[in-house]
Amino acid sequence: MKPLIIGGTSAQVLAHKVARELKLESTKTEFKKFPDGEKYVRILADVEGKEVVFIQSMYKTPDEYLFEYFLVVDTLKDLGAKKVAGVIPYFSYSRQDDRFKPGEAISFKTVAKLIENVGTDEIITIDLHLHRVEVLSRVFKIPSKNITVMPFLARYVKENLNLEDLIVIGPDEEAEKWAKTVAEELKTDFDILEKERISPTEVVIQPKKLNIRGLNVLIIDDIISTGGTIIKTIEVLKKEGAQRIIVVCAHPLLINNALPKIYDAGAEMVIGTDTIPSQVSVVGSAPAITKVC
Ligand code: R5P
Repeated sequence: MKPLIIGGTSAQVLAHKVARELKLESTKTEFKKFPDGEKYVRILADVEGKEVVFIQSMYKTPDEYLFEYFLVVDTLKDLGAKKVAGVIPYFSYSRQDDRFKPGEAISFKTVAKLIENVGTDEIITIDLHLHRVEVLSRVFKIPSKNITVMPFLARYVKENLNLEDLIVIGPDEEAEKWAKTVAEELKTDFDILEKERISPTEVVIQPKKLNIRGLNVLIIDDIISTGGTIIKTIEVLKKEGAQRIIVVCAHPLLINNALPKIYDAGAEMVIGTDTIPSQVSVVGSAPAITKVC
């Protein structure tokens, strides 16, 4: 049975793309706000006994999109949907995966619990920031999949940029798996740097002797948020003699004017996917999503 595809307000275009890939139409919904700011959700289809894929990304105003997620999924189940798979291309709150200071909320666990309790039958994320929590099944009891858009990013680079003498660099240890995937796809080498996070907006990238003089460099990361990580990485790479520097990421959050700052630092191009719509979201995530739903 083909599922119904519904997009939340954060992922309307992406839902259309996913539906088109599956040769379906995305299911109509009505979203609005009451004058006092409360959200209103209406599903304009018969979902009884059907399987539904609900796509909602959680960038920029994560709480708003998360709350809408709860309203939609709870309503779908209430209307008799047989199964609801929640696709959350950019999943916020995953970086607060521990209690770093006494009394802190472990937001990742709380959000996971709420997503389950509202009736989600399966959860699908894309290149989720899994750090201390290594696999999704450690926070979700429902079936979960974390899919990757890294091969699609690599293919975009291969098909659109003429980059010879290339090395792929990950800014930190966590980026090693992405650097490896992209380097394999591009049939080239990779290396990683060492990062220390000082605050949510400040990082230090340790200097490292790299054999990259005269080479073109592709920096790969999961998220570009404030751009601090990428800017510090570019500084290290330039000191080591990198030639052209291209930056690639799954989730281009690009907050606080990050994009011009990254260009100022010396990047030639920034490439991201449409898990978050942005000026650099040139690589589609729909083909990765349709493989699993
Ligand atoms: C964290 O380690 C992630 O992989 C990214 O490196 C991080 O989220 C980027 O944040 P920012 O752009 O603010 O440095």
